[in-house]
Amino acid sequence: MHSMSSSTRPRSLSGIQPTAESFHLGNYLGAVRQWVGLQEDHDAFYFIADLHALTVQPDPAQLRARVHRSAAQLLAAGVDPERSALFCQSHVPEHTQLAWVFNCLTGFGEAGRMTQFKDKSAKAGADKASVGLFTYPILQAADILLYNPHHVPVGEDQRQHLELSRNLAQRFNHHYGETFRQPEAYIVKGTAKIADLQDPTAKMSKSASSPNGIVDLLDDPKKAAKKIRSAVTDSGDTIRYDPEGQPGIANLLTLFATVAGTTVDDVVAQFEGQQYGHLKVALADLVADLVSGFGERTRAYLDDPAELDRVLAAGAARAREVAAPVVVDVYDKVGLVRGV
Ligand code: TRP
Repeated sequence: MHSMSSSTRPRSLSGIQPTAESFHLGNYLGAVRQWVGLQEDHDAFYFIADLHALTVQPDPAQLRARVHRSAAQLLAAGVDPERSALFCQSHVPEHTQLAWVFNCLTGFGEAGRMTQFKDKSAKAGADKASVGLFTYPILQAADILLYNPHHVPVGEDQRQHLELSRNLAQRFNHHYGETFRQPEAYIVKGTAKIADLQDPTAKMSKSASSPNGIVDLLDDPKKAAKKIRSAVTDSGDTIRYDPEGQPGIANLLTLFATVAGTTVDDVVAQFEGQQYGHLKVALADLVADLVSGFGERTRAYLDDPAELDRVLAAGAARAREVAAPVVVDVYDKVGLVRGV
């Protein structure tokens, strides 16, 4: 029995951009692991946001490869295609169809206040930033609202985009009648923020962190372990959880607890009286194990691209069953005449 067929379980939905060669520990512990957890008791819809990736004009061959790498990594992380619809955003045309309606409901100023747009366009230079980058959060709102999810597991940086989705749901309902549910962000406290290993006051991020500040899940396990052992730590020598005073150690404790599946308090107790180096070496081993298993599983999926395509096609078919009637309903409600 497919547990995802017509059940009354709550829905979860999320997407990840295929913009890197590898997921990093921050994505994995902050978001992807929550995806995996939620599929236990939710009907889950998870997708690779390839249309969002287009907003910064990636190289076509690289984009194509990264879509497959992302799918393989999601499977390696434990997304189970028997239980969750795993698909590629561009395979479900309803995302862009609904996005157009939302473009027409979003104020110019409202879109301009999105902090991620402001950051990204400032970096690109005003003339180089695409209109796609500007409307990015509106496409994201369409991604979400098409599935009426209860929970949207994302990192802290997506809070404002979630808020826009909630506003658009409410605005649409107000103008055209009850249609969309206001989705909740699902951000697990503590695990949501993994910091840069070289600058523990900044978030671990592929765009901002230096190569040594970030552990890629497809890193060689020895290299991953070395990055952990070379993490910047604070002056002092007592292992305690003090994110303000000892952000470096706090980050390593959070990492340890999250990877080992225990609590920070337990980790602090485990290392009582020991030195920073002990914590680093033990964490380096844990991370090397994680990375080694993850890399093996990912490579096995990448060795069978036909199977990956089959999984993505089945996921898209399942997603379209939900998304297509929503677009029909929305087009009716806004006054578009049905084609024959
Ligand atoms: N913007 C998200 C990110 O960069 C990716 C994304 C696209 C997404 N569409 C989504 C996340 C819908 C959740 C729901 O992380």
